[in-house]
Amino acid sequence: TKVLVIGGGQNPEHEVSLASAAAVAAALRMGDHDVTTVTIDRDGIWRVEGRPNGGSAAESLALALPLLTRTDVVFPAVHGALGEDGALAALCALAGVRVVGSGLRAGAIGMDKWTTKLVADAVGLGTARGRLVAADDIGDVEFEGEVVVKPVSAGSSHGVGLVTEEGQLLAALREAARFDRRVLVEEVVRGREVDVAVLREKGGIRWAAPPLEIHATGLFDTATKYDGSARFTVPAQLDAAETAALKRAAIAVFDALGCDGVARMDFFLTERGPVLNEVNTMPGLTAASQVPRMFAAAGVTYVDLVSRLVRAAS
Ligand code: DAL
Ligand code: MG
Repeated sequence: TKVLVIGGGQNPEHEVSLASAAAVAAALRMGDHDVTTVTIDRDGIWRVEGRPNGGSAAESLALALPLLTRTDVVFPAVHGALGEDGALAALCALAGVRVVGSGLRAGAIGMDKWTTKLVADAVGLGTARGRLVAADDIGDVEFEGEVVVKPVSAGSSHGVGLVTEEGQLLAALREAARFDRRVLVEEVVRGREVDVAVLREKGGIRWAAPPLEIHATGLFDTATKYDGSARFTVPAQLDAAETAALKRAAIAVFDALGCDGVARMDFFLTERGPVLNEVNTMPGLTAASQVPRMFAAAGVTYVDLVSRLVRAAS
């Protein structure tokens, strides 16, 4: 199978997306796929096998488009805006090319933490109580106790801050507003931090891998995500009822959004059960990322996982 792997992208998760794409491309090559790599620079220039392709985003995209006609499947390993949010899936859909992962709808909803919350509430899942603030109005927000402040749409915890005292509030709101003009102010949820990944196979059967627990000291923030200091336990040490509740919740979110391929649902496991924190429709895919570790615990190697994702592309 000819696979076009796309990495990079025009958002703060650029570097992570390069790492995910490099890992995906290497694993697909090991699985005997015919791989071409494309990276999207921060300024939107598409590079084919490392060579810049034209002088502007539009020109380079026009030059890269013929690649879509010569590939069987596109693997858009681009986290965040203009990738994971459904933009690349939409481009492939317009071109009639099979693409790995969620389509435009699930990508766009999953990238939006506010809309995700509304959908999760509607299907009866717990989420943190939160409210939406327009960037223009952040000066009006009053301190009412500990909160987490985050951009509605961002990834890898960019712009996320924990506010424990009044003096931190405005700076946290300003930081979040750098990433999105919609800011979410949420109650702090106390619980174990547990991720669940769901894979939808060719043929449509979807299943959840064993949950993974994150042990971070403090907030599992951008630095902690990538400095190697967080420890993971997989499978997480949970009783059968907790595991079942988490998997049920993860599949309910996956189905409600209409996800495809693989998605990672991040929860806090509280006394009231799982509380959904967020959904990643193109989760980190380096060999050290949570998703490959969870599927390894289910007996699915990384090479097998990416091959299954290519087979399931629609
Ligand atoms: N957004 C990052 C890449 C993750 O989900 O792991
Ligand atoms: Mg995310």
